[in-house]
Amino acid sequence: MQLELGLKPDQTARFPPFSESQMNDQASSNPAENPLRAYFDRNPGRLMYKWEHYFDVYHRHFERFRGQACTIVEIGVFHGGSLQMWRDYLGPQARVVGVDINPRLSDLGEPGIEIIIGDQGDRAFLRQLAKQVGPIDILLDDGGHLMHQQITTVEELYGNVKPDGVILVEDTHTSYWREFGGGLRASYSFMEFAKRLVDELNAWHSRDPNSLSPGVFTQSARSMHFYDSIVVIEKGAHPKPTARMTGTPSFPLDQPVNEVLQKT
Ligand SMILES: C[S@@+](CC[C@H](N)C(=O)[O-])C[C@H]1O[C@@H](n2cnc3c(N)ncnc32)[C@H](O)[C@@H]1O
Repeated sequence: MQLELGLKPDQTARFPPFSESQMNDQASSNPAENPLRAYFDRNPGRLMYKWEHYFDVYHRHFERFRGQACTIVEIGVFHGGSLQMWRDYLGPQARVVGVDINPRLSDLGEPGIEIIIGDQGDRAFLRQLAKQVGPIDILLDDGGHLMHQQITTVEELYGNVKPDGVILVEDTHTSYWREFGGGLRASYSFMEFAKRLVDELNAWHSRDPNSLSPGVFTQSARSMHFYDSIVVIEKGAHPKPTARMTGTPSFPLDQPVNEVLQKT
């Protein structure tokens, strides 16, 4: 049986079917293994609003910062519950900064948690925010979810995220919703912006410098991760990759090693 996909047949790959039990196995995080999920379930603090499948993604990309002196900036405060969760998860050395357009939330600061009021769609505000906050370890965008807000936020704050920091943009399903400015394959959607960044990530391998050549993103992003509704960028030094051969040939090489490497 062919797996039914939402895209038209000429636009998509064909995969074998996935069983319901396999799907249920992977549906959501296990509180026994995921401290964020456990915190969320027993939430002793303020209200927060999260999709359940996000916890595994957070833990996978944020665990390395636990117990460290680090700065997390979360755009989109709501009632402040997730800021408290980050502080609990990352530990007492963490600096948690919440950014929101709603001035009513300015009172939600507490030791270790700062609130900054402003509009993430406003480049001037984001530049001021970057100066005020300084280098960021984790940038999490859960704000207004409009296309221009998500794109502007990554563009303006990318340089402020530390060379080994991480950017997580969530609710990227709005890229498929017209009321948020999205639309399937719309060039101005956040997902299409992110797909263009995938090209930049691979730009060391471009053979057409007029259309693609290594830039700042190529050299400073180590990986990108696409999940349901989440895009993650892991920063890290990314110099031009090199390839080598080791081991003994299994049969005579019909080309000199240098020629083989040059072709790949
Ligand atoms: C989905 S809620 C955030 C949920 C919160 N992160 C949580 O996990 O509980 C979205 C928040 O983004 C804020 N917001 C909406 N537009 C914004 C903008 N342009 N700039 C900054 N914050 C914005 C809203 O005021 C709201 O508090």
